[in-house]
Amino acid sequence: MYVVMLSPECAPVAQAGGLGEVVYGLSRELEIRGNAVEIILPKYACMRYDQIYGLCVSYRDLCVPWYGGVVPCTVWFGFVHGRKCYFIEPHSADGFFERGSYYGDDDDILRFAFFCKAAMEFLLHAGKRPDVVHCHDWQTALAPVLLFEQYQHRGLGTQRACLTMHNIRHQGRCGEEVLRATSLLPTGRFTVKERLADDQHPGALNLLKGGVVYANFVTSVSPQYAWESRWTDQGAGLSEALHRHAGKFGGVLNGVDYDVWNPETDELIPYNYSRKDLAGKYADKRALRERFWLADSYRPIVAYVGRLDEQKGVDLIHHAAHSALDRGAQFVLLGSSTNPAVEERFRQLKWHLNDNPDCHLELQYTAELAHLVYAGSDLLIMPSLFEPCGLAQLIAMKYGTVPVVRAIGGLCDTVFDWEHSDQDRHLRNGFVFHQPDPAAVDSALHRAIGLWFHHPGEFRELMVNAMRADYSWSTPGRHYLNIYHHIRHK
Ligand code: GLC
Repeated sequence: MYVVMLSPECAPVAQAGGLGEVVYGLSRELEIRGNAVEIILPKYACMRYDQIYGLCVSYRDLCVPWYGGVVPCTVWFGFVHGRKCYFIEPHSADGFFERGSYYGDDDDILRFAFFCKAAMEFLLHAGKRPDVVHCHDWQTALAPVLLFEQYQHRGLGTQRACLTMHNIRHQGRCGEEVLRATSLLPTGRFTVKERLADDQHPGALNLLKGGVVYANFVTSVSPQYAWESRWTDQGAGLSEALHRHAGKFGGVLNGVDYDVWNPETDELIPYNYSRKDLAGKYADKRALRERFWLADSYRPIVAYVGRLDEQKGVDLIHHAAHSALDRGAQFVLLGSSTNPAVEERFRQLKWHLNDNPDCHLELQYTAELAHLVYAGSDLLIMPSLFEPCGLAQLIAMKYGTVPVVRAIGGLCDTVFDWEHSDQDRHLRNGFVFHQPDPAAVDSALHRAIGLWFHHPGEFRELMVNAMRADYSWSTPGRHYLNIYHHIRHK
């Protein structure tokens, strides 16, 4: 199988969130299984060039049609930790990728529409004929539309498209401008415009919906989130489209790259350990305390690691800090926010708790600290308001850090409560609460911290259960290959 991933992110070269890790991890797994994978990305000025090996020009003067004219592009090639990546660099087109960040500009719709168009032109002219083009999120959801409306009769006739939705809230809602820019004129029985019409906002177009309609298969990043997207308001206006296309829609749980996240081999933590010998974990806990100037006393450490986005339940994370401290635990937080108001709130909290020797808030994310926090903590709190999959709980489990999560989306599929679960005892791996409110967080932390203090033997059993769970890419890799084969032979 020859697969081209079309993505706005790929770890570690261009990464804003979990999407980048997934694209890297899945590509690697597919290659291990003997498939050929290439990843196409925009050539962002702000990406980590130190993570690219052997960057060179692969295709010069790619002429990409845009608003009736053409924008010349250079396509670069380089290896990102063994993965084959192409980077599209437009010359002009308003410096689409020469910004200080990956997203967040007023012209994001046009930037990524251009990227999709350029990627299709590249496949066509560079003679690349993948079996499957796998697109990720709204930024690349226009690619299946372009593929079937414009490129099918020009040499990309047998290509199939798969679309993965990592976060259904971001859909790329826009006006007709994007159709003009990409020359997507009305064709066939339905016009493109009708197919892309937003179901909730009359007159608006919706790129993610376009992807849902045109792709040969659509996935969410967990079965539970796929279900929520169809049947609850988590669908954010796409439920109807997903119902209509239910026959080609399903959830595939993400994996974690255990080459990067594995306490037995991790080079970024001071002491390695395994579930058979946890001594290193306790040593890492000491190292974490030293690093964050925490008091060395007999207490569990509750951690939060990740983006401080509304999605992650910022109010509840804020509350969890106090709640954990009140219950005799220590609290550490590692993460940053792109929202200045949220950032300020946590800065205030940091200032407020500044003299507390049981608490440390690190308002930035670095991989090195993340590895140490996962290894050195006892519990990880994730009170998400919604969570398509969630990677932090999967990573935490591998490090024997017991997750305390809200039962939503992918968290529901991966964390099973120690006391209340229909899973067998050896499969229970964390604590789960239901309501997104402070009382529910309190009660879950109360149970978790209580178990640590009063039943250390049971807590250890829980840790080992969490470490034993296999959330590698092996199973999801197989699922995606099944999907690719399925759409290939339709
Ligand atoms: C998004 C989702 C997160 C998911 C990740 C990777 O960031 O919010 O739940 O784990 O994508 O698919």
